[in-house]
Amino acid sequence: MCGIIGISAKKNVSNDIVQCLKHLSYRGYDSAGLSIAKDNEILERKIQGKVTNLENFLNNYPISGNCGIGHTRWATHGEPNTINAHPHTISNVSVVHNGIIENYHDLKTILEKSGVNFISDTDTEIISQLINIELINGKKPLEAFKNTITKLKGAYAIVAIFRGYDDLMIGTKLGSPLLYMKAKNMILLSSDAYSISDYGSSVTYLEDGDIIVTEKSKISLHDHSLKTIQRPSKKIKKRDKDGLNGYDHFMIKEIKEQPDVLSHALSYYLNFSKYKINLEKYNFDFTKINRIIISACGTAYFAGMVAKSWFEDIANIKVDLDIASEFRYKKMFFDNKTLSLFISQSGETADTLAALRHAKENDQKIVSVVNTVESSIAKESDLVLPIFAGQEIGVASTKAFTCQLATLASLVLFLAKKKRHINASQEKALIEELVHIPSQVLDVLKYENDIKKIAKDIHKSSSAIFMGRGATLPLALEGALKLKEISYIHAEGIASGELKHGAIALVDKKLPVIVLAPDDIFYVKNLSNMNEVYSRGGKIILVGKVQNDQLKDLKLTGINIEVNGKLNIPIIMSIPLQLLAYHVAKLRGTDIDQPRNLAKAVTVE
Ligand code: F6R
Repeated sequence: MCGIIGISAKKNVSNDIVQCLKHLSYRGYDSAGLSIAKDNEILERKIQGKVTNLENFLNNYPISGNCGIGHTRWATHGEPNTINAHPHTISNVSVVHNGIIENYHDLKTILEKSGVNFISDTDTEIISQLINIELINGKKPLEAFKNTITKLKGAYAIVAIFRGYDDLMIGTKLGSPLLYMKAKNMILLSSDAYSISDYGSSVTYLEDGDIIVTEKSKISLHDHSLKTIQRPSKKIKKRDKDGLNGYDHFMIKEIKEQPDVLSHALSYYLNFSKYKINLEKYNFDFTKINRIIISACGTAYFAGMVAKSWFEDIANIKVDLDIASEFRYKKMFFDNKTLSLFISQSGETADTLAALRHAKENDQKIVSVVNTVESSIAKESDLVLPIFAGQEIGVASTKAFTCQLATLASLVLFLAKKKRHINASQEKALIEELVHIPSQVLDVLKYENDIKKIAKDIHKSSSAIFMGRGATLPLALEGALKLKEISYIHAEGIASGELKHGAIALVDKKLPVIVLAPDDIFYVKNLSNMNEVYSRGGKIILVGKVQNDQLKDLKLTGINIEVNGKLNIPIIMSIPLQLLAYHVAKLRGTDIDQPRNLAKAVTVE
């Protein structure tokens, strides 16, 4: 998983490549590099770390030319060092690549036997080596490129430039995204549309197997047999130019955007004035569905976990839920009354996409809940339900999670009504719950100062436990994920009832235990679990219904949340957990928006 960019223009492209790479950094930030073909040479600069390192490096050691490629890396094969950074230049050719070449080892072994020396540990270098050999053997760039890609197995987007061809770029894709834009005096190739949206308003997405050739201002698209083909262009949205709007990090900006984006998402799916669900506008036949399979990864998976309880409780539809990386390897009992539903913020997560394709091969109808509607997952779905979170830049998902829940809640109500499992007054009550969510989120955000105090108290801990029951179990898992990924504190999410079956051994006076206990049917049981923690000296942080006597008796810190509905509890109670993770990480001085070893779109399996 990585971000790639290629630019050909009537001016020096070096700075434009770097600026576009900054917008692609969500795809990885272990190293960055660029190369430019000029005057029978290929000039290259690459460096470990983020794109800003590359920018500084270029300020000291500039390179210039009219056509070049750039890359920001999330390491898969080989350490994140400068040698393994892309582009990979082998005398006549320079290549940037996103994806994985699955048969690189076999290909490398063959080349090594014939005396080829490899410089890096990457799978990508095999592409450069193979193209270079073709060129040495007298092939022209397009033929050399095509002959090479026919040997590759795996998933990839590739762009190459060639020594002696100062205006030529050739690219292709299989499984990973690649698109192009024809802008004023410029051609741009990129992994995503946002990264180049400063340059124009429409892009053309390549389909798997397409080959793009750009030379000066000319662009041609070819299929695998090099026959010329056309692909439609698409209007794109402008990248969010607001930047940080005065916030220290995108994560906190995105946490604070939730009242707005949730209103947006909910008003798309619900008619607030008539208390009706607007999903009838989709021409999709839900009538036969009596079972749903949900699959996703990470935070999106936890949204799926919440949705499972909603579909089952409210719509009386059985749901089987599986992590996307496991999905394909299990017996899923597909049938024609089952709907397969995939949840993904980026819409590019390789495991989720692979799970979707597996379901499709088994004749499943596919519904996806995505933030990026131009993504691969959206394109391959029969029905796309956008979540309207707006661009999410912070690596830790926040507003996408709550907007996924809002969208899924709307679908649950729609199906519950279609299946006649709720009557008009139940429907109205549930919609009423959703209607109040944006203002309730606003209220909970007001606890930020209290949460900062809790963060101060726990930020030096080496471990934390989050526990919940029923609707809050997925939130316990999500709260722990949020904390560990940005603060690097080890955290576990458990079912409160499981505490006594093992995790209680960890409890001592240094261990923060974050108990998620809203005013629901589990409240009394949660209280017992809190007592178990208290009597072993654990530090209790109660998020939910906080009663004054508990503050004294259990010496706990509390964030009082007054919601108690089926739909609003998971959405509202996730906000304090996001704020807690953020403020703990801030006190620990970690790289909150780009935590180590992570990336925003995980396009490798
Ligand atoms: C955690 C987080 C990840 C993603 C996961 C799936 O904060 O963001 O766990 O939820 O990588 O990503 P998408 O939703 O893009 O498929």
